[in-house]
Amino acid sequence: MLIGVPTETFPGEKRVALVPTSIAHLKKAKLEVLIEPGAGEKAGFPDSAYIAAGATLAQSRSELFQKSDVIVQVRGLGANLEQYRADLAYSKAGQVQIAVMDALSNPAPVFEVASTGAVTFALDLVPRITRAQAMDVLSSQANLAGYKAVIMAADTIPKIFPMLMTAAGTITPARVFIVGAGVAGLQAIATARRLGAVVSAYDVRPVAKEQVESLGARFVQLQVATDTAQDAGGYAKALGADFYAKQAELMTGVVAESDVVITTAAIPGQKAPILITAAMVEQMQPGSVVVDIAAERGGNCELTVPGETKIINGVSIIGPLNIPSELAHHSSQLYAKNISTFLLNIVKDGALNIDTADEIVAGTLLTTGGNVVHPKIIETKTS
Ligand code: NAI
Repeated sequence: MLIGVPTETFPGEKRVALVPTSIAHLKKAKLEVLIEPGAGEKAGFPDSAYIAAGATLAQSRSELFQKSDVIVQVRGLGANLEQYRADLAYSKAGQVQIAVMDALSNPAPVFEVASTGAVTFALDLVPRITRAQAMDVLSSQANLAGYKAVIMAADTIPKIFPMLMTAAGTITPARVFIVGAGVAGLQAIATARRLGAVVSAYDVRPVAKEQVESLGARFVQLQVATDTAQDAGGYAKALGADFYAKQAELMTGVVAESDVVITTAAIPGQKAPILITAAMVEQMQPGSVVVDIAAERGGNCELTVPGETKIINGVSIIGPLNIPSELAHHSSQLYAKNISTFLLNIVKDGALNIDTADEIVAGTLLTTGGNVVHPKIIETKTS
């Protein structure tokens, strides 16, 4: 069976879905890999490395799509709609496509692709269960984003992070406040701590307290946390406007005394909640920085402009949109491990073996046999 790896076409995207070290694992499972020339170049993986690992180079993108039984990508469908539609011209019925699809916030294209007969899997819908940990792209990419967000902040503030005692005087450590202690937030805490900052963090899920403290940060207690803030899958649930207003009020003091605020608060499939208001930013010292990595979902800060850096009253508000692409080598390495583990879960003896009773398949399968089969996507049509 042939696995095709196209070059990513989303503007600015430098990642690639498979890296040369993935090839050997796939070959062991009797899978061959076809690469579009230059697919891994921007991530630091030249064609020669893929060939040395046993992959074959396609002559063109159209040949790649026409020959491959399975197409693996970083961004597919709603996550890169225009180019995805262009590639449909090359696709064949029954072809399996696996990528981050952004289907919940953009369900309409799922119905379009169903009619082509493609079998599509949304890697961003892999359930957060133990068996699927190695396939969880949201976690692998958010982990790196949390790291890089701290580096961006450190590169922007006119201060250093660690305490420094010198003959010329003592410098106090930077104060970093992380909002949302999920995957990205916990990595941001660990990174800021490694750089010597004094770190505090807040999360709406009370269970996050122990994790925050185990990384050496202070957990900020606000009298708004609620046990109902978490769903059965361990994700945060959306809470009411009153809750967010109260949270903002109680967080104002912590934000005002922070040199760096990193916001990562997310509700799966929904717009990010506004947690840092313009009034709160006004109270921050000039030179302070807000890195809002929830920018791709609209942002946690009222003043965030997704994809831009704004300076308001001397405070920089950074709204990065694709941090993992800035770390394309390592983010591709982790992504490749996620997608090849996923792939091996749906093949047996070198052929497809899609078991719809499998929790991971059921959670990620969007379309098959000409139909949309994912219940959450079907719901969007009826609601
Ligand atoms: P996650 O689901 O692991 O963590 C989000 C955390 O926010 C959870 O712990 C949740 O309890 C918390 N949260 C929700 N509402 C909150 C509230 N009102 N107050 C405090 N905490 C709250 O998500 P993950 O994987 O860490 O991703 C975090 C964010 O980073 C997401 O918005 C994701 O889209 C974004 N991201 C952005 C990237 C970029 O390039 N800008 C790259 C990767 C992730």
